[in-house]
Amino acid sequence: MYQILKTEGRAKRAKLTTVHGTIQTPVFMNVGTAAAIKGAVSTVDLHEIGTQVELSNTYHLHVRPGDQVIKKLGGLHKFMNWDRPILTDSGGFQVFSLAGLRKIKEEGVYFQSHVDGRKIFMGPEESMQIQSNLASTIAMAFDECPSSVATREYVQNSVERTTRWLRRCKEEMARLNSLEDTINPHQLLFGINQGAIYEDIRISHAQQISEMNLDGYAVGGLAVGESHEQMYRILDEVVPHLPKEKPTYLMGVGTPANILEAVSRGVDFFDCVYPSRNGRHGHVYTNQGRRNLFNAKYELDDRPIEEGCQCPACRNYSRAYIRHLLKAKEMLGMRLCVLHNLYFYNTMMTEIRDALDAGNFEEYKEKKLAGMEENT
Ligand code: GUN
Ligand code: ZN
Repeated sequence: MYQILKTEGRAKRAKLTTVHGTIQTPVFMNVGTAAAIKGAVSTVDLHEIGTQVELSNTYHLHVRPGDQVIKKLGGLHKFMNWDRPILTDSGGFQVFSLAGLRKIKEEGVYFQSHVDGRKIFMGPEESMQIQSNLASTIAMAFDECPSSVATREYVQNSVERTTRWLRRCKEEMARLNSLEDTINPHQLLFGINQGAIYEDIRISHAQQISEMNLDGYAVGGLAVGESHEQMYRILDEVVPHLPKEKPTYLMGVGTPANILEAVSRGVDFFDCVYPSRNGRHGHVYTNQGRRNLFNAKYELDDRPIEEGCQCPACRNYSRAYIRHLLKAKEMLGMRLCVLHNLYFYNTMMTEIRDALDAGNFEEYKEKKLAGMEENT
């Protein structure tokens, strides 16, 4: 059940109660595509850095180790020892990211496995079946994420197909949830809005899927090459056409500034690879912007990454030491940077929720943006 606790302009402070516990929103979901947070971060660590929701990927887990394997082992929660909510993305994004390795047809998508080249077919039903085997808390609809430079005609046809796929997803999820051997019979299903940069296509799609009474709604197909201004404009136009009384999820976004701007526009779920990917390259987020710990100026810097930060890296180690680890290609260097970055994102979401509770989110946002502006 989704309950709005407070609003400020279009910004929502809410909670979503699930069988795996309550999610306080706005929330940043920590990305573990193949049931692993890259950078040698364990689910034990996730508890320590304040993670509410872990995110994994249908396509990747279907390819390896196989959703049947995970089902036999009791589902993804048990497999990776994570008892809080998990959202699984549908495989739809791989239609975009593995563009050279797939063929799109009405029935679904023919992939060539990125691991061993074997043929894989995934349509709406298969995606739901795999997500049901994984037994995530929230399943995502199987969609096509068209390229930001696709023609209007291509996008129109693609979005119409995505709507037809969504109907099939909903029907299949209802069937799977009613089966006797389903691990999570309360699995939720979120629909995904598409339409690239064509606002009228996005709006009419949003209106159509809003009528389908899904458990939540995502805006997909953003952060795929368009400018930040275009993304904000699309959110301004589209979010008001999605049901306010349902969770709103902006997929794959983004920088701390992107998240603050999207919260203002009514979004309450986020995910992005930036904190872990940047951390693995020694780039760390702070309230003064991003730092590159490879920089020579940190050679003798005995301060933590961010003074006052309560993350496992900052409570115990200096910039100089972490820089040394990174330069020596020690795994611990990456790990500490990723832990700090995820803690930074999770803590920012807590600050956002606190500011919304206190009714001063806009003030908080302007202050946070001004502080980070130097380097991000
Ligand atoms: N992740 C980021 N963007 C998208 C999208 O458009 N569709 C899906 N399924 N996942 C995404
Ligand atoms: Zn820290």
